[in-house]
Amino acid sequence: MATARHTKQSKGYKGSKESKRILRQAMRNPFKPTAGAMPPLLVGRSDALDSFEEGIEDGPGSPGLLTIFTGARGVGKTVMLSAAEDLAKEHGWVTISDTATPGLMVRLGTTMKQHLEELGDGPTRSRVTAISVAGWGVTRQLPPEKQVEWRQIATELLDILGDHETGLLITVDEIHAVDRDELTQLAAAIQHLIRDEQPIALLMAGIPKAVSDLLNEDVSTFLRRAERVDLRDVPIADVRDALEETFRASGVGISPDQLTRAAQSTGGYPFLIQLVGYQVWRLANRRTDRAVTDEAMTEALDAARRRLGSTVIAAAVNGLSDVDKTFLVMMADDDGPSRTSEIASRLGQTAKYASVYRKRLIDAAMIQATGTGLVDFTVPFMREWLREHAASMHRPGRL
Ligand SMILES: Nc1ncnc2c1ncn2[C@@H]1O[C@H](COP(=O)(O)OP(=O)(O)O)[C@@H](O)[C@H]1O
Ligand SMILES: [Mg+2]
Repeated sequence: MATARHTKQSKGYKGSKESKRILRQAMRNPFKPTAGAMPPLLVGRSDALDSFEEGIEDGPGSPGLLTIFTGARGVGKTVMLSAAEDLAKEHGWVTISDTATPGLMVRLGTTMKQHLEELGDGPTRSRVTAISVAGWGVTRQLPPEKQVEWRQIATELLDILGDHETGLLITVDEIHAVDRDELTQLAAAIQHLIRDEQPIALLMAGIPKAVSDLLNEDVSTFLRRAERVDLRDVPIADVRDALEETFRASGVGISPDQLTRAAQSTGGYPFLIQLVGYQVWRLANRRTDRAVTDEAMTEALDAARRRLGSTVIAAAVNGLSDVDKTFLVMMADDDGPSRTSEIASRLGQTAKYASVYRKRLIDAAMIQATGTGLVDFTVPFMREWLREHAASMHRPGRL
């Protein structure tokens, strides 16, 4: 693979594109401040996949094979699904990942059929080659006969995988976006396959509201049996270790005090780990000695916070109703956790009225209960962002 390039170089390739490429690679920022991007080091999650890995080892029916990751935005749900896929692949499993948009079942069926065609022992053996998934079209809901076909395809694929002591992992991200009918179909199909002791795993991810709504619907009693892994912020000490290792590996000089400062500034919030790491690295690389200065650190932390505001926070707040936003703005008047009764009076409303919005915001993973009658923001710097942007948002007088 690398031979051609190598030859070029050994011929004395003068422009030395290759060495520039290598240099660029080495100088590439290792941090990944992008939704869904695998970070250089997955901080504080070594336990979160244990039960899934046990499930892979224990085989069909093991509880870890049906898991739902929940948590606030930017806490690392999508990344956990990717990490699970990597783990499954290491065990020789086939993985199919999907973000829930309409047509989920058709896409899953199509992909399973492709795997089957690659793995199967040829058309004569296969019971399902006659099934033309092309004919399934893009219907949102598979009609009953197609659901039967879906299961036939899945069963045949899983029979082959089972013979090889592997299995199939399906991941579905952002389950709040899933069409309920399709999710019901998927749940029913998976339930069926599990009952048949097939080596199938289903991992899903979503914000807590979506998940609790889903689980409260009669249609998905089966999904209620899924393991729930509620992802939270990670320990600062682990953040510091990960930053230290990543900076060291890429040759950026940073002092112990600066590392502590950088780690603390993230509050253990995964998205911010990447944003802070990225900015610190970027500024250090402007200098020939690739060292972090205290001034650069201050600048980097500011830039990371601004990015957090303009991406994660703005997107989350924009999706809310006016009253939800006002509730948050009222909370931002406090320097720490807010008392719901106090927010109610600031809103000029009853405690009962405020509690409805409190619940909505908790469900949407914007705020969390931090004690009796107390709530606080889930995403760091939300308070500061709201204070800055309050003027452009609804106030109680304008409700
Ligand atoms: N455990 C972790 N350690 C370090 N960075 C992480 C971790 N989990 C997620 N990240 C980073 O946080 C950001 C958000 O992750 P993502 O999986 O998209 O979150 P979510 O799906 O919960 O919104 C990404 O930049 C990702 O690289
Ligand atoms: Mg995500």
